[in-house]
Amino acid sequence: MLEAVRLFRTPDALRDQFAIQISCSNPSREKNMITSLISMKGGTAKTTTAVNLAAYLALGQFKTLLIDLDPQTFATIYLGVEIQEAKVSMSDVLLKGSDLCDAICPTRIPNMDLIPSDRRLASVDLLLAATCGREEKLRQKLEPIRDGYDYILIDNAPSLNLLSVNALVASDNYVITVSPSFFSMVGLQTLLETVEVIKKNMDLKVELLGILPTLVDLRMKITSEYIELLRSHFQEKVFRTVIRQNVKLLESPAHGKTIFEYDSGCVGALCYIYFGKEFLARCTS
Ligand SMILES: Nc1ncnc2c1ncn2[C@@H]1O[C@H](COP(=O)(O)OP(=O)(O)OP(=O)(O)O)[C@@H](O)[C@H]1O
Ligand SMILES: [Mg+2]
Repeated sequence: MLEAVRLFRTPDALRDQFAIQISCSNPSREKNMITSLISMKGGTAKTTTAVNLAAYLALGQFKTLLIDLDPQTFATIYLGVEIQEAKVSMSDVLLKGSDLCDAICPTRIPNMDLIPSDRRLASVDLLLAATCGREEKLRQKLEPIRDGYDYILIDNAPSLNLLSVNALVASDNYVITVSPSFFSMVGLQTLLETVEVIKKNMDLKVELLGILPTLVDLRMKITSEYIELLRSHFQEKVFRTVIRQNVKLLESPAHGKTIFEYDSGCVGALCYIYFGKEFLARCTS
């Protein structure tokens, strides 16, 4: 498998290879799936997962939109997109009612668009609080464009604020990234309980698609123990794939490249290929 991936290094060949893999394993396509990547704890690889999953889907010829809803703008930087490339910013869309279409930027990767973040999103949270229908803004803005995409992924900041509530309201499902550490596990429980309260209060249908263990270093015994604990507690809700710690994944954002462009044969790329397959299987089952 590793060798097979290494053989396909040029973008065109890589794209064809992904298209074949995905169409073989997933003949039926679920349309218009909107997924939020969330976690209360920072640094659990939400952005790394959102960017590389979006790239995997796009390389498999699914029309994919990634929305960077984190004022840190890391997904935008990761993809090497300049915020000024968009005619309007996400802040304008949410606060001034600008058209969401004007915030969409193409990326280097065929089939993959990005709505970049901007630093002003940090204050949007506060400003939205005073507006009517504040939790529904993103869902309403996405409605006219969602038919144009197979998959829409939303990368969120490490908190459950009004922006991430907007993301959850707009989403069909959500993925939680969790690194195997004590604080991450505590944060996971708090997050699940908080989402349940939000769902109940707002009568939302958004479902947990799965919990993804990230930054996994299997050389440490404690890592396996945390993963076993996760699986025994949350059972099949935990993805079978774990994302291993990998230096190429650490390096790739600094080069503004997805892992498939940076080193398509590395362990990190393989982890995201396996995760991408599992994601598609869960979305279509
Ligand atoms: N599998 C991995 N192996 C090594 N480094 C990784 C891996 N995944 C992510 N990283 C690195 O860990 C750091 C945190 O990752 P990332 O920014 O994706 O997390 P995040 O959950 O989005 O963070 P935040 O909560 O601040 O938004 C980054 O420096 C990233 O490059
Ligand atoms: Mg992030």
